[in-house]
Amino acid sequence: MRSLTALLAGTAALAVASPALAQNELRDWALEMFSPVPATIPALEDNIVTPEKIELGKALFFDPRMSASGVFSCNSCHNLATGGDDNMPVSIGHGWQKGPRNSPTVLNAVFNEAQFWDGRAPDLAEQAKGPVQAGVEMANTPDNVLATLNSMPQYVDWFDASFPGEGDPVTFDNFAKAIEAFEATLITPSRFDAWLNGDDNALDAEETQGLELFLEAGCASCHNGVNLGGNGYYPFGLVEKPGADILPVGDKGRFTVTETAVDEYVFRASPLRNIAVTAPYFHSGVVWDLRTAVDIMASSQLGADLDEQEIDAITAFLGSLTGDMPEITYPILPAETADTPRPTGEVLPN
Ligand code: HEC
Ligand code: HEC
Repeated sequence: MRSLTALLAGTAALAVASPALAQNELRDWALEMFSPVPATIPALEDNIVTPEKIELGKALFFDPRMSASGVFSCNSCHNLATGGDDNMPVSIGHGWQKGPRNSPTVLNAVFNEAQFWDGRAPDLAEQAKGPVQAGVEMANTPDNVLATLNSMPQYVDWFDASFPGEGDPVTFDNFAKAIEAFEATLITPSRFDAWLNGDDNALDAEETQGLELFLEAGCASCHNGVNLGGNGYYPFGLVEKPGADILPVGDKGRFTVTETAVDEYVFRASPLRNIAVTAPYFHSGVVWDLRTAVDIMASSQLGADLDEQEIDAITAFLGSLTGDMPEITYPILPAETADTPRPTGEVLPN
């Protein structure tokens, strides 16, 4: 692997002049940096994935009654029909409030080493507890979620079947584990994976050129692994800070998590799978055009000045990361009963 400094020193010349690598050489290099999406659902830590748990997690993911208002489900902001995000600059949640950041896709999130733009949640189960309680998202409380679930016998049965042998399986932890199990199924193998797995024809000439540029320019020093990102933290504006319209001064990123000065404006290198269908871009969600996002990355992170053709090629390569979407049948949710807590537009006290 090349060091960032070596890489930065080399960026001025960039790849244009160098002759294209043979497919097998390019593949060897790519396999040092990336891994294909596995053929089977990945295993989770402390959470056995069973068909029952996946089905329960799916119901919870789509159930708007998990929000205080009865309006917002996970799928509201991570719409599985539109790339697993909401395609809005920043999400709109409880009371039609705008949140502070763009919603990332849940597709392949299971491969991220930490969740959120600042990596503040270590895994998907921990992550799932956040939005339920966030005042600008679902504005609910764990107690109210459990009261809602316990009011519907069908849900209690599903929890029993998903967590066999547990005396009282309807817990907030198990709620989160079921959602995590469902999210582990949301993986999207793409043409890039077919190419990594040996199919030379899976990418066209422009896409392979874009891949080569992505490697040579140094994008892959931060965007690597299964998700081409999601596994490391870097300053947004390592070489040149983007303007305040793109990097708003108020959001200091990882600094809020670690309270260490070097983490000011540090963010997780974004996972890039399905990036072509998850506009707008960056945590601020202000850039709608993927070519523009690529151009901003080249100058802000690498000090590189890409020409139009190079930007086109990298953008074409990124398009090859759009995968086969998981086929999901819309769940039929348990009917509420007289005991089901009624929706409220108020923000419940935590
Ligand atoms: C109102 C919109 C909204 C709702 C509802 C919502 N989310 Fe999110 N989600 C977001 C936003 C915005 C972020 C990024 C927040 C941040 O990084 O600070 C996010 C981040 C995530 C991530 C991290 C992905 C990554 O790449 O880091 C996952 C996973 C996720 N949400 C799953 C869920 C689940 C599961 C639910 C339901 C329990 C849910 N979300 C409900 C807006 C929403
Ligand atoms: C030094 C590390 C680093 C390098 C090098 C780098 N990136 Fe990034 N990239 C990041 C970080 C950090 C973010 C998240 C920025 C934010 O907070 O919005 C990001 C975000 C992105 C996004 C937006 C993702 C989204 O979901 O909105 C794209 C697209 C992207 N990078 C592509 C590239 C390309 C193409 C290159 C090479 C020209 C590159 N990056 C080089 C660290 C890097």
